[in-house]
Amino acid sequence: LAHQPLKGRHLLITAGPTHEPIDPVRYIANRSSGRQGFAIAAAAAAAGAKVTLVSGPVQLPTPAGVNRIDVESAEEMAQAVKKALPADCAIMVAAVADWRPREYQSEKIKKRGSAPPALMLTENPDILAMVAASSKRPDLLIGFAAETQDVVENARKKRKSKGVDWIVANDVSGEVMGGTKNQVHIVRERRVEDWEEMDKDEVAGRLIAEVAEHLEAVHG
Ligand code: C5P
Repeated sequence: LAHQPLKGRHLLITAGPTHEPIDPVRYIANRSSGRQGFAIAAAAAAAGAKVTLVSGPVQLPTPAGVNRIDVESAEEMAQAVKKALPADCAIMVAAVADWRPREYQSEKIKKRGSAPPALMLTENPDILAMVAASSKRPDLLIGFAAETQDVVENARKKRKSKGVDWIVANDVSGEVMGGTKNQVHIVRERRVEDWEEMDKDEVAGRLIAEVAEHLEAVHG
C-alpha cells in the first residue's frame, strides 16, 4: 500500500471471547465471533502498523501481516497482553469473561444424584484497566463497550472508570453479535461521534484512520 499512515507504530489488539474452563470438557464464555477485532487488526496492518493480535478461541483466519497470539482464558490473555507491551496504541475488543470458576476440576464432573453441582466463581483480571494503570500505558488506549441500554451514557462512565482515552460503544440489543454489521458511538473526553450502521470492516477502517490521525497529532 502506498499510503501507510501507521508505519513504524505498534498496535496491540485483543479480540474474541475468553474460555474459562470448568473441567476438561466444559467452560463458560462470553458470546463473541472475534470479527470486529480481526477487522481492526487487518485495517491496522494494511495501514502499515506492526500488529500484535491477542485472540481468544475464534474461527477466523489470521489477517495478512498480523502477528497473532492465541489464548484461551482471561488470565492467559492478560499475560500475553503484558508481554506484548509497549505499544503506541492498544485497542481492546475482546469480550473477556468477567468471572471464572474458582476451581478447575481436572477430571470431568460426573452427573450424580439429582442435585447439579454448584459453580463457584471468582473475578477475572480486568485487562483493559490493567493496561491503563501500567507504566507502559500506550499513548492511545481504546476500549469497547457492548451495551443493550443507555449505550452512550454507560460508555461515558466506563471511559472514566477504566481510565481509557476512547470507548467504542456498540448497541448489541439487535443482531450485532456474530453478524457482519455494527453500529457504534466513539466516546471521547469532550465529544461523542455517532456513526451510522455499517460493515464491521468499515468500522475498522474508519477507526484506524482516526487512530492514525490522533497519533500523528500527538507525535508528528
Ligand atoms: O466492563 P466491560 O467488560 O464492559 O468493559 C469492556 C472493555 O473492557 C472492553 O474493551 C474489554 O475488552 C475490556 N475488558 C478487559 N478485561 C476484562 C473485562 C473487560 O480487557 N476482564
